[in-house]
Amino acid sequence: MLLWRLIGRMNMIQANGDAWKKHSRIVRAALLNNLPVEMFAALSHKVFALIGKGGLKRWDDIAQRVALDAVGASVLGHDFDAITQESDFVLEYNSIMHEIANPVYLVMPVLERIFPRRRIIRRIENLVDDFDKLLERKRLDPGEDIMTFLLREPNMTHTELRNNMVLLFMAGHDTSAGGLSSLVYFLARHPDMQERARKEVLETLGPQGEPTVGRLQKLTFVNACVREALRINTPISYILPRCSETSVQLGKYLIPAGTSLNVNVYVIHHHGGYFKDPFTFAPDRFLDQGKSDASDDAWVPFGTGPRQCPARNFAIYEQRCLIAMLLREYRWTLPDDSIHKDGLHNAFSPFALTLPHDLEVVFTKL
Ligand code: HEM
Repeated sequence: MLLWRLIGRMNMIQANGDAWKKHSRIVRAALLNNLPVEMFAALSHKVFALIGKGGLKRWDDIAQRVALDAVGASVLGHDFDAITQESDFVLEYNSIMHEIANPVYLVMPVLERIFPRRRIIRRIENLVDDFDKLLERKRLDPGEDIMTFLLREPNMTHTELRNNMVLLFMAGHDTSAGGLSSLVYFLARHPDMQERARKEVLETLGPQGEPTVGRLQKLTFVNACVREALRINTPISYILPRCSETSVQLGKYLIPAGTSLNVNVYVIHHHGGYFKDPFTFAPDRFLDQGKSDASDDAWVPFGTGPRQCPARNFAIYEQRCLIAMLLREYRWTLPDDSIHKDGLHNAFSPFALTLPHDLEVVFTKL
């Protein structure tokens, strides 16, 4: 698959065993040191400038731009300024991802060998060169970003660094964009909950106060909304397949060694045994601890175990901060003719991503 030409094979998501431990240790440490709430708040102000006094906006597009700028600034230390302008780099990346996801080639990957798509391969190589250049610039002009942190690591080769750079860029924006879109959608569909969340934000942050990690932690109901949106329209519907090393008995099933296994997060999140009324948006289920409406073990939008998402804190604070800022500034609804009036529609994604599409939202300045 052409995807591997872009991400490479020596990075955190591809590696296993000792190689994974090396990548994981370094990438996790870098992400742990990075909870850039100030930057998220600055991005929110850019979003306000884009929305202006209000009106109808395509929120899925705005969410993708926000997530790109967040990942650009924190991972690459590079300002794509995607919120305010079209970046050539971003346009080319999106167009290449679209080509890679061509369903005909995904269903019959052998076609890549029989009829190699030379033009797209050249474009991928050029994009990888662009990432190389970003990395070189970073070496000369270090900052506070994650790549600068990784560059200090003597045990990573240039290729490993670049592969991780591409991986973090990819893993970090469509997921967050999907989460943010779903959250805005569900609060538009439930104006009572939107009001309740807004009241909490105003009480905690006040009309002008800047968000901090501590203040965002106090937004109990907002955080429950974030969790519930990540549950009901989980940004990644099933995680990367695993392969059983040995034969194992799982309940009534015997899984032979060497079996490919998929964990379907969407199904877990909609299992009535773990979440009561699983198709209903009900953030309170995360507040009523002990009432068994929500099982913590079954809430797995970031996966679970050692391979779970190393950026889950980063992603959660990104959502908390942006939604809090948005709630304080605007009230929003879906337009009468919204295609999502009777349920959220996600775009087709071969990579198990859950991305609402054409999500038009009417914003009203408060
Ligand atoms: C709402 C946002 C996000 C969601 C729902 C999400 C979800 C996930 C999931 C389900 C996995 C797979 C876990 C597994 O294989 O068991 C994963 C892995 C990963 N994610 Fe995220 N993620 C999000 C944001 C991010 C961001 C912002 C970054 C980077 C800046 C990131 C970087 C990664 C990396 C590097 C891995 C691979 C971990 C490994 O294989 O050890 N993710 N994420």
